[in-house]
Amino acid sequence: MALVPMKQILEEARKKGYGVGAYNVNNMEQIQAIMAAAQKTKSPVIIQASRGALKYSNFTYLKHLMLAAAEENPDIPIAMHLDHGNSLESAKKAISLGFTSVMIDGSLKEDGKTPSDYKYNVDVTKSVVEYAHKLGVTVEAEIGRLGGIEDGVGSGSVHITDPDEAKKFVGETGVDALAIAIGTSHGAYKFKGDKKLAFDVLEKIRALIDIPIVLHGASSVPQELIDRVNKYGGKMPGATGVPMEHLKKAIKLGVSKINVDTDGRLAVTAEIRRVFAEKPEKFDPRDYLGPARIVLADLIASKMNDFGTAGHAGDYAPKTLQDMIKEYSKVNA
Ligand code: G3H
Ligand code: 13P
Ligand code: ZN
Repeated sequence: MALVPMKQILEEARKKGYGVGAYNVNNMEQIQAIMAAAQKTKSPVIIQASRGALKYSNFTYLKHLMLAAAEENPDIPIAMHLDHGNSLESAKKAISLGFTSVMIDGSLKEDGKTPSDYKYNVDVTKSVVEYAHKLGVTVEAEIGRLGGIEDGVGSGSVHITDPDEAKKFVGETGVDALAIAIGTSHGAYKFKGDKKLAFDVLEKIRALIDIPIVLHGASSVPQELIDRVNKYGGKMPGATGVPMEHLKKAIKLGVSKINVDTDGRLAVTAEIRRVFAEKPEKFDPRDYLGPARIVLADLIASKMNDFGTAGHAGDYAPKTLQDMIKEYSKVNA
């Protein structure tokens, strides 16, 4: 199966009430682990790269790794998605690389840190929608603000999404999927006290908007992974994430896309630390990247089962970007 537009993957998920994980990648082993998990569980999948990941991989390397995933897995619907685009230029760059979906995060200014205002968000989102839809590419936007700062992404200040503003925003921008803030945050330290999410706000938003909803900062930060990282020399006291039961509830209440980066990082780190600690004589990267790839694939496969994605890879015929261009032009006619 060729790469498919993310809009199709999310709309199919919405119809059947399951969630689709969007897993962040920087390198070959992460992409291979995601695809191994998708194959094992027969799941559609969203592979996403941040601006930092694209820069780290010099753009072209990550592009070709994602294309390799599609070539090697013709039976799996894959969307190639830009995570946290910060400008029209960043969206254009990703689209030029062949991404079938882009996020424009106008909740923050172009520096990815400074909170923006509603008008700024609408204007920048509209400019990306106008550009991307002409090429059949899906657009995700964000309204409200997550907490947490991860390598410069995020403002550190939380702003729970206002449901009425979300409705207005969707109407004014024509965006395909909407990321909302209901108390999650990026990174491995999400909650100081109670692990509370604003499910009531999610319910209100679901009742008011008719497009797929996205949850960022959705890693669970499993204690078992933190224990392994710490056991083998790591230092991550007090790390916490979103319990899987919360994510399952969020999916039931209408979330379709679940963003996961941190848990993958933890799985890889825990396993590499274990190999280094238990087999200090090893120095071939395959001896630690290989096991890390297996552990990551297992983690993602279990998420695919928990999110309900498993078994849905063959449910639908893939749409092309050409099909999407026609669909968007009808809507705009
Ligand atoms: O939302 C942020 C993602 O976890 C990507 O993080 O910018 O460090 O690649 P990154
Ligand atoms: P986590 O840090 O919870 O994995 O969130 C990742 C994310 O939202 C990427 O956009
Ligand atoms: Zn995010």
